[in-house]
Amino acid sequence: MKVYNIFSPAKAGSVELKNRIVMAPMTRCRAIGNIPNKLMAEYYKQRCGAGLIITEGTAPSPNGLGYARIPGIFSKPQVEGWKLITTAVHDCGGKIFVQLMHTGRISHRFNMPEGSHIISASAVKAAGQMWTDSEKMQDFPVPEGMTSEELIHTKAEFVSAAKNAMTAGFDGVELHGANGYLLEQFLSPVSNLRNDLYGGNIEKRCR
Ligand SMILES: Cc1cc2nc3c(=O)[nH]c(=O)nc-3n(C[C@H](O)[C@H](O)[C@H](O)COP(=O)(O)O)c2cc1C
Repeated sequence: MKVYNIFSPAKAGSVELKNRIVMAPMTRCRAIGNIPNKLMAEYYKQRCGAGLIITEGTAPSPNGLGYARIPGIFSKPQVEGWKLITTAVHDCGGKIFVQLMHTGRISHRFNMPEGSHIISASAVKAAGQMWTDSEKMQDFPVPEGMTSEELIHTKAEFVSAAKNAMTAGFDGVELHGANGYLLEQFLSPVSNLRNDLYGGNIEKRCR
């Protein structure tokens, strides 16, 4: 087995890292109005000694903004806000990937912008409650099961968010496929009761 010094350079795909320390994604709920800001730039700058930072979960669309004060990467002001952060990290030799996190049913309308929808693989409510700034703890709602058109639309939102990430100066994108958010809501037979191309056996749930 080859042993590496944790402070030696490494590569993540084609991205060169100054060391092998990677900061895990952590939701911080500091993006007032869902727009990345100077406080967040300071937070990431303080941690730029890591070879690679994965950002907090970031919504690819208004429907993905389930938690209070999480950032998005679908509007121009959000892209401009992220530029502050990627610049701060790059200025000290760090690299940074944005984590795209669509919350799906882990959401509440009190946290979401007007006109957005709480969507999931199927209309199955998550157990438990979540924080909302206006009404404190609230039960998770019953989400809308996505139509196949919505599925295609949501996929396009991820693509567009990834393109925005490149515009904002990110070195890469991580898709959040775990922890009960939208992508995992499709993977799990508990939350995915579909019987179309996207539900049933594991192959279809992964599609
Ligand atoms: C406050 C907090 C926020 C988190 N937010 C995210 C997140 O946005 N995305 C994610 O993939 N994981 C998130 N996590 C999970 C951490 O990334 C995870 O704890 C980390 O990978 C370390 O794993 P461990 O807790 O098993 O050691 C969060 C964890 C904490 C404590």
